[in-house]
Amino acid sequence: MPLVNTTDMFKKAYEGGYAIGAFNVNNMEIVQGITEAAKEVNAPLILQVSSGARKYANHTYLMKLIEAALAETDLPIAVHLDHGDSFELCKSCIDGGFTSVMIDGSHLSFEENIALTKKVVDYAHAHGVTVEGELGRLAGVEDDINVSAEDSSYTRPEEVEEFVSRTGVDSLAIAIGTSHGAFKFTGEAHLRFDILEEVEKRLPGFPIVLHGASSVIPEYVDMINQFGGKMPGAKGVPEEMLRKAASMAVCKINIDSDLRLAMTASIRKVFVENPGEFDPRKYLGPARSEIKKLVKNKLINVLGCAGKA
Ligand code: G3H
Ligand code: 13P
Ligand code: ZN
Repeated sequence: MPLVNTTDMFKKAYEGGYAIGAFNVNNMEIVQGITEAAKEVNAPLILQVSSGARKYANHTYLMKLIEAALAETDLPIAVHLDHGDSFELCKSCIDGGFTSVMIDGSHLSFEENIALTKKVVDYAHAHGVTVEGELGRLAGVEDDINVSAEDSSYTRPEEVEEFVSRTGVDSLAIAIGTSHGAFKFTGEAHLRFDILEEVEKRLPGFPIVLHGASSVIPEYVDMINQFGGKMPGAKGVPEEMLRKAASMAVCKINIDSDLRLAMTASIRKVFVENPGEFDPRKYLGPARSEIKKLVKNKLINVLGCAGKA
């Protein structure tokens, strides 16, 4: 099966009350761990690449890794640009074989966001590529830009119909209280499901995207702290909240930080237990296995997309 865009997978996810996992990738072990998990449970997959990851690993290397993942499975896989910040970047990814892009104009004015997003949609649709836009602004760090809690803002439901109809986007990321990174909540986790419900009412049948959706799995944080790391107070989105979002209009759930934690925890453990280890396969191998275990659990128990390929 060739790479696919997100149209079909989102339609089925919306109707089936589950979400597709969108996992950030930047090296071979991460691509392999995610893909092997999806293959074992027969789940559709979005492999997403941030502009930082693309700079780090190089567009061609990433595409070839993803093509290899495709050749090893018979799954619907979309390759998606995460947080595209310009028309030129989106165009370059589309020209280079991505099947889906996000144009993130959430920091712009409403009118500027619409103009930029529409420009990307026009180009993308002419090439069979789907587009995710964003309204509202998440807190946290993405691509070295740190959005403070004061600068973040919830999505205003009264804006979503106009944004979607004027831009023609295929999916919409909204801000309901999640944030990027491993420190999402200082107190109790709280998400504005009332905003999601209102958006769902205004855009019936339209796929919504949830960013900043790592659970910051406590076992990995504990492991990191146990093996010489320092992550006090790390906290993510409880799994039951993600299950609730997936049963609603959320069709794509973005996960990066949990992959980083799984990888880092297992590598730290190897080095503490075997200080003389210097064969990269001996620490990247366990990291890949941990990613596979983590993703398999998400696909089956959190996103509900196992068996839906
Ligand atoms: O939304 C941000 C993702 O976690 C990607 O992070 O820009 O550091 O690759 P990055
Ligand atoms: P996390 O930092 O919660 O994994 O969010 C990732 C994300 O939203 C990528 O776009
Ligand atoms: Zn994001």
